[in-house]
Amino acid sequence: MIEARGISKRYGEHVAVDDVSFEVTRGEVVGFLGPNGAGKTTTMRILTGFLPPTDGTALIDGHDMLTDPLQARRSVGYLPEMPPLYPEMDVEGYLRFVAAIKGLPRGARKQAVERTLARCGLLDVRRRVIGSLSKGYRQRVGLGQAIIHEPPVLILDEPTVGLDPVQIREIRALIASLAAPGPDGIQHTVILSTHILSEVEAICQRVILIHRGRKRLDAPLAQIVQGGQGLEAVFARETARDEATAPEAASA
Ligand SMILES: Nc1ncnc2c1ncn2[C@@H]1O[C@H](COP(=O)(O)OP(=O)(O)OP(=O)(O)O)[C@@H](O)[C@H]1O
Ligand SMILES: [Mg+2]
Repeated sequence: MIEARGISKRYGEHVAVDDVSFEVTRGEVVGFLGPNGAGKTTTMRILTGFLPPTDGTALIDGHDMLTDPLQARRSVGYLPEMPPLYPEMDVEGYLRFVAAIKGLPRGARKQAVERTLARCGLLDVRRRVIGSLSKGYRQRVGLGQAIIHEPPVLILDEPTVGLDPVQIREIRALIASLAAPGPDGIQHTVILSTHILSEVEAICQRVILIHRGRKRLDAPLAQIVQGGQGLEAVFARETARDEATAPEAASA
């Protein structure tokens, strides 16, 4: 459903993402982990077609982002670190606007908006102005803009950052429900980045860990925590591994 093939991104001399490959199959929820600056957001922006890679490509639902960008982009919903919300619009109006710019046929938009409002728990705030909503509700609207065109793939960059514990639980439940087969037959494949390791343990089946732009770990969660080793210990081990050979460490 998602295939990253040798993705690299260089900014001048700086290698932000270094030859990253992985595959995610339908209905999987994958936790994308790594310390600050590891390259998570950069990889996600490449997977969604927002940023061209220096090397490699991504296949979304079989569509190559390089050779078939329109179909590939249509197959993915993206919640960026800062969702593109318009604070002065009301929730329903904003979703109608997103449905239009995502190219949904006029006749299908109303139903898509209703389905999205229901799925994201937004029915009660549909007439509220986005700028007046709490952060958790704004995040639901952000998720709404990602799913309104029913993409098979969702890429969520730190979807629960800055939320209170209750809202975190609600957003997690929402993400889990998006990955389960819905009554409408829609089932999403999800990659989400997070710094909350318990979040990964709560909703992800698989973990991909990157550090300094390189993939360090790609395994089922059950396998990682097998033998009593917590995810936190694994994270610490994988991100400390070559600290001694890093240029900063060498010159210190
Ligand atoms: N436009 C840019 N120009 C130059 N360097 C960039 C640019 N965007 C990102 N980088 C660098 O690429 C590296 C990876 O950044 P990225 O934002 O992908 O990390 P991240 O894993 O998402 O981190 P965080 O957990 O802090 O969100 C960092 O060293 C960052 O400084
Ligand atoms: Mg990031």
